[in-house]
Amino acid sequence: MTRERWGNFVLALCVLMVLGSLAAKGLALLESFSYSESASAPAPHKPDSPLGKLTPLERGKLVFQGAGCLSCHMARLEPGGPLVGFPVGPSLSNVGMRRDERWLREHYIDPHKLVPGSMMNSFAYLAPEELDALVAYVKSFNLQYEPKNETVNLVIPERFTPQQVERGKALFSSQGCIGCHIVGSAGGPLGPNLTRAGKHGRTDEWQLQHLKDPLSVYVLGPTDGIPWPMPRFDKLSEEDLQALVAYLQSLQ
Ligand code: HEC
Ligand code: HEC
Repeated sequence: MTRERWGNFVLALCVLMVLGSLAAKGLALLESFSYSESASAPAPHKPDSPLGKLTPLERGKLVFQGAGCLSCHMARLEPGGPLVGFPVGPSLSNVGMRRDERWLREHYIDPHKLVPGSMMNSFAYLAPEELDALVAYVKSFNLQYEPKNETVNLVIPERFTPQQVERGKALFSSQGCIGCHIVGSAGGPLGPNLTRAGKHGRTDEWQLQHLKDPLSVYVLGPTDGIPWPMPRFDKLSEEDLQALVAYLQSLQ
């Protein structure tokens, strides 16, 4: 191609582009006219609508609430917020530190495959984007969700003695519970935060059975595949176990 021809070609291209953009603007203008004519018609979903502007975490929170996860789990919906929900399954406080994205996703789609006998229902009906948002949201349940320096309220139920609670508190440290569970401002985050363990809605029997055999309370249990599962404390004396239950139930 000669230099002159090349120049003409570029010129023609420019003209075409200008015409094209003018045509597009004209169309948009026409569209806006037709909208104003039928002002009562519902506005189409636009990417700049408030829903489209949500971050993946905000979307995940909506899916989490909409899917009814809270009818079986306790969780904090935002960093430092109160623990809400019902304690059918394990508390999800800091669960993002125990489970990876892949496990979470597969578990929503088919809980029974990962945890045989699980009572959790499948959420395979969710759209792929909803599943992604849910995974991101639950994965974010980590230390930033835990209230910092939460005060410890010991309210001893009448069925326990202060001595039992004292003993339970000592065992909580000596048995290494504190290594995996936060109470107040101390402890490790490998298991759920127990600062309000007495408010988790667990019965004394549940607590006792869970201490002896954590797997058994969840029907083949949530500890499958957890890197640091809750160990069995079935070698402790019945008195020590009762003392631990007394301490846990007094944490209000
Ligand atoms: C019908 C009750 C029920 C509902 C509803 C439910 N779950 Fe569960 N969930 C359970 C039970 C029981 C377990 C323990 C067994 C297991 O791991 O599957 C569990 C386990 C989990 C775990 C693993 C916990 C751990 O400590 O490793 C996560 C994460 C979880 N559920 C998230 C969710 C989310 C997110 C939703 C909502 C989309 C939800 N669950 C809805 C009952 C439920
Ligand atoms: C190696 C880490 C680890 C140690 C040590 C540990 N736990 Fe756990 N604990 C976990 C994990 C993980 C879970 C969540 C799965 C489950 O419920 O079994 C859990 C769950 C719990 C729950 C249930 C909370 C709820 O309401 O959902 C209680 C209560 C509890 N542990 C008490 C204790 C006590 C008391 C001790 C010491 C005698 C202890 N744990 C030692 C890891 C640990």
